[in-house]
Amino acid sequence: MKPLASRTGRISTSQTVAIDAKYKRLKAEGRDVLSLGAGEPDLDTPESAKLAAIESIRMGRTKYTAVTGLPELKAAVSAKFARENNLAYPPADIVVSSGAKHAVFNALLALVEEGDEVLIPTPCWVTYPELVRFLGGVPVPIPTSLETGFRASAARIEAAITRRSKLLILNSPGNPTGAVYPEAELVAIAEVLVRHDLYCLSDEIYEHIVYAGVRHVSIASLGAEIFARTLTVNGMSKAYAMTGWRIGYTGAPPALASAIAAIQSHGTHHPANVSQFAAVAALTEDVAFPAMLRDHLDACRRLALERLARIPGLKVFPPEGAFYVFFDVSAYLGKSHGEGLVRTSLELCEYLLETRLLATVPGSAFGLEGYLRISFACDPDLLVRALDRLSEGLSALT
Ligand SMILES: Cc1ncc(COP(=O)(O)O)c(C=O)c1O
Repeated sequence: MKPLASRTGRISTSQTVAIDAKYKRLKAEGRDVLSLGAGEPDLDTPESAKLAAIESIRMGRTKYTAVTGLPELKAAVSAKFARENNLAYPPADIVVSSGAKHAVFNALLALVEEGDEVLIPTPCWVTYPELVRFLGGVPVPIPTSLETGFRASAARIEAAITRRSKLLILNSPGNPTGAVYPEAELVAIAEVLVRHDLYCLSDEIYEHIVYAGVRHVSIASLGAEIFARTLTVNGMSKAYAMTGWRIGYTGAPPALASAIAAIQSHGTHHPANVSQFAAVAALTEDVAFPAMLRDHLDACRRLALERLARIPGLKVFPPEGAFYVFFDVSAYLGKSHGEGLVRTSLELCEYLLETRLLATVPGSAFGLEGYLRISFACDPDLLVRALDRLSEGLSALT
């Protein structure tokens, strides 16, 4: 048979899939397995969104919509950008997609050519480098560390720029670390991007989930020049606990918004009509939901940090946003558990799952070895039980 397209060889399912498959198998077998791996809020979708979706089905609003989204939704997103982010994207420059992940894919399809370099502060969300490689681009990781607050400085970004650099992917608040870029650092980064004529893909999906007085700033709001070269991606998944509805959106300069619309018109056409009605209701009727969700997650965050502080040898980065804790477990690597050595963060995750029935995510999945990521977006009782298992599992290593 003829071979598959060569681009399929440039993308892989994430290394955490094996862990996830094992977790699901144990669960299906009825084992008492706990997961701190999930990337979604544990609260239910707002009632207004559910009712709007039911109503839209009853009213027969179940046909195609415009490619870039329902006019009502684009108006609501445009108002949201103005109200919450100080961004003036008219509805014509907004494309609604099937989740922020799809919005990121569309944006990269519109920008990345063979050999283009894409700067990515790392550790980072796994999807960014995979998609860049898939499109023939070259992901250029900009290493960050716990000591530098897991943020890339303007100077480090500038030092990584070459003739082939096309764009920077910025994710603040960030997955997996929860780092948030303060305004002054964004001003300096924007200045570098403008000076070197680079685009910025700003993934702001965790914008509402910030703690302890930390403020999220949209880089595109920092001046006309950076606005003209930034795509601002956001969506309903995290702030409105609507992961399964698959609604994301992009505000972009007009030429990019048109290119993305053309790509989407031949790819997915538009996100599900019913989900779009749900998103309109959430954005217009449930503006207080994100703050309520954040308060719930903040209580979980404090609980998680308090429990992790009791475990010797961990170096924990207190997250300023998102709902993950990323912590250094290198003190436990190289130790043994009777049957073998735990050498890497992936092996530590496998060990915790097999012996303590606890699912976590290895730092290597995000481009930084020696760390684990846990999600604290879960019921507090479950969180305590899971972190007890982590503590017991680590202390059993010798
Ligand atoms: C940084 C980041 N961007 C985007 C997404 C995807 O969001 P959506 O569910 O809207 O596709 C995630 C999900 O984990 C994420 O962590």
